[in-house]
Amino acid sequence: MESSKVPTKAPVVLVTGASAGLGLALARLLVRTDYRLILTARKSSLHRFAEDGIAGNARIWLRALDVTSAAERGAIVEEANERCGGVDVLVNNAGIAYRSVVEHASEEEGYNQMNINFRSPMELIRLVLPGMREKRRGRIINVSSVGGMMAMPTMALYSASKFALEGATESLWYEVRPWNIKVSLVQPGFIRSDSFQNTVYTAKGSGAAQDPANPYYQHYSQMADFIARLMRRSLATPETIAIKIRRTMERKNPPLRVPATFDANFFSVLRRVLPRGVYHWMLFRGLPKVKSWGPGPNGEQSSGSGSSGMTDKKEGRF
Ligand SMILES: NC(=O)c1ccc[n+]([C@@H]2O[C@H](COP(=O)([O-])OP(=O)(O)OC[C@H]3O[C@@H](n4cnc5c(N)ncnc54)[C@H](OP(=O)(O)O)[C@@H]3O)[C@@H](O)[C@H]2O)c1
Repeated sequence: MESSKVPTKAPVVLVTGASAGLGLALARLLVRTDYRLILTARKSSLHRFAEDGIAGNARIWLRALDVTSAAERGAIVEEANERCGGVDVLVNNAGIAYRSVVEHASEEEGYNQMNINFRSPMELIRLVLPGMREKRRGRIINVSSVGGMMAMPTMALYSASKFALEGATESLWYEVRPWNIKVSLVQPGFIRSDSFQNTVYTAKGSGAAQDPANPYYQHYSQMADFIARLMRRSLATPETIAIKIRRTMERKNPPLRVPATFDANFFSVLRRVLPRGVYHWMLFRGLPKVKSWGPGPNGEQSSGSGSSGMTDKKEGRF
C-alpha cells in the first residue's frame, strides 16, 4: 500500500507507455535511481510492471494512463500537482506505428495515429507546463524517430505523426526557454527489439500485403522484410536508447534533437549535407528491389514473387 507522503525532494519523472519496449527499459533503469517516478501504462497493460518485478511504493507510482484519455491525463497531472508539487520531467514515449501506403489509410486510422503520437503528448505537455513555468524549471522529452526526420514508403502515417511532433516540439523549445524549461526530441532509428511486431497494418494495407495481384504488394513485402532485417542487425536496443534518454534528462543543456542510433545520426548528416533532390533520388534508388514495385517498366503488374525479370539482382540498401 502506498503512503500518501512522498519521501524525497528528488525530481518527479512521468513516463508514458512504460509497459513495453523502450518505455519499460527506461522504467527499469529509473527504478534504480532516486527519482520519484510516475510510470504509466494502459490499464490493460499495468500487469506488466509486476511481471517485470517493478512494484509500486511511495517513490514509484504505477498508474493507468491511456494517453488518448483526457480524463486520465488530467487525473495523473492533478495527483502529481497535489501530492508532490508537479511533474519535473515528462517523457512522452507512448506510440504506435501503422504500416500503410497513403492510398490505403482511412481517415480514422490517420486520426488514431496522430492522436496517439502527436495530439496526446502535446495535451500532456499543456497540462504540465503551468507547474514547470511556476517553478522556472522542467524537462520535456518527446520520443520521436528517424521517421520524424525522413519518411519511408508504407510509413506515411507514422512519419506524419513524428514530423508533427518534431515541428511542435521545435516551437516549444523557443517558447519555454525563458522559464528554463529544456525541451528535447530523442530520435531512435532501427532498434533490435520485438516492437517491430507491434507495427499495425491498416485494414486496406493488410489485404494488399497478402495479395500478390495488388498494385502495392511489392511495396509492402519489400519494405516489411527490409525494415525487419535492419532491426535485427541494429546494435541499438531499448536499453541503449533508455540510457540516452536518461543522459538527455540529466544534461545541463540538452540539445533540441538527440539522434539516438547510428542510422539516425547517419540520416541526420546526410539530410544536412546533400541537396534535397540528390538525397531523395539516392534513397529511392536504394529501396529494396524498387524496379519490381508497381506496374514495372512496361506497365505490367508485379508478380509478387519478387523474382520477375524486372527485379533488381542486388538487394537495395538505404
Ligand atoms: N522500436 C523502434 O524501432 C522505434 C524506433 C524509433 C522510434 N520509436 C519510438 O519509441 C517509442 C516507444 O516505442 P517502442 O519501440 O518501445 O514500441 P512498443 O514496444 O510497441 O511500446 C509502445 C508503448 O506505447 C504504449 N502505448 C500505445 N498506445 C498507447 C496509448 N494509447 N496510451 C498509452 N500507452 C500507449 C504501449 O502500451 P501497450 O503495451 O498497452 O500496448 C507500449 O507501452 C514510440 O514513440 C516509438 O514511435 C521506436
